[in-house]
Amino acid sequence: MVESDEGIFLKNCWYVAAWDHELIDGAKLARTILETPVVLYQGESGQVVALIDRCCHRGAPLSMGRIEGDCIRCMYHGMKFEPSGKCIQIPGQDMIPPKLGVRSFPVVARDHLVWIWMGDAAKADPALIIDYEPLHDPAWKGMPAYMHYDANWLLIVDNLSDFAHLAFVHTKTLGGSEEYAYQTKPLNIERLDNGFRVERWHMNSDSPPFHKKVIADKTTKVDRRNIGHMHVPGIFFLESMFAPAGTGAEKGNTGGTRQYRNCQFMTPETRRTTHFFWNYLHNFDLDDPNIALSLCNSLREGFMEDKAIIEAQQKLFDRDPDTKLLAIAADAPLSHFRWTLKQKIAEERGAAVPVAA
Ligand code: FES
Ligand SMILES: [Fe+2]
Repeated sequence: MVESDEGIFLKNCWYVAAWDHELIDGAKLARTILETPVVLYQGESGQVVALIDRCCHRGAPLSMGRIEGDCIRCMYHGMKFEPSGKCIQIPGQDMIPPKLGVRSFPVVARDHLVWIWMGDAAKADPALIIDYEPLHDPAWKGMPAYMHYDANWLLIVDNLSDFAHLAFVHTKTLGGSEEYAYQTKPLNIERLDNGFRVERWHMNSDSPPFHKKVIADKTTKVDRRNIGHMHVPGIFFLESMFAPAGTGAEKGNTGGTRQYRNCQFMTPETRRTTHFFWNYLHNFDLDDPNIALSLCNSLREGFMEDKAIIEAQQKLFDRDPDTKLLAIAADAPLSHFRWTLKQKIAEERGAAVPVAA
């Protein structure tokens, strides 16, 4: 029996379902999103289609079917479905009931991302898709990447909300030193209606290993700034700047800086597993493709460190779902985010809206 997902997911919002390269060459991508099996494909006209991955006849997966034009044919008994989900052919049967078909989901392909709307299709406004400029601005270069987590997406959101863990989880990769946790504090935590923004500086520090790997000068001290933006339902943008130490970057002098822009999209697969899409872009030495490759590898290495801890947390929560956790000062952003999301889910369901913690 399928457990009810009432109150777990926000439905009326756009989620990233795939990178567009996952749909090239006639791929039929079977991907569970919000506990719903979906098949995604690109029709011959270029149109991207998302249908429920379960034929309405005998329940065969449409991802085992055949793309015909922009339609897909179930390869069990041959029923053919349009991008809207309507059945337009039943081999050997002339009469097709007009309402016969499968559920289709609104999808939009933009900036190499494929966005999907799992809620009320009438509310799916493409203008609500959050724009991330570095993905279409030629001043930035990166590489699309994907990872799967055996953990609830909010544990990943918590992790990204908290720069303090860089020092301990990523000492030798993304963080650089344990000192980062002791000597830096989040500045200006802005609580936003749909998430938060947080800024953190680390002055006169060594470059962290992932940055050292892609620059020639590995010893100059740097002033490092991270600005994180988390958005409902689980979209994270991180701006990182490395300036030669003492050049006044904190006063707005960005000459000589090297910068990164990182976008990460957490899409619940189920309540305890997550699709994680990211692209770590850089704005220097753009003619050197090895930089994007090196950054992609470094980030993957770093995320594997997160994944080990986060999946271990999930296992403990599975054993005791009522575990009570104690917040520390560094948790202000993640507490705000969880409360914001809870509020939006309650609003969507017409339930009583929880009060602020
Ligand atoms: S199960 Fe799809 S046509 Fe029969
Ligand atoms: Fe991390």
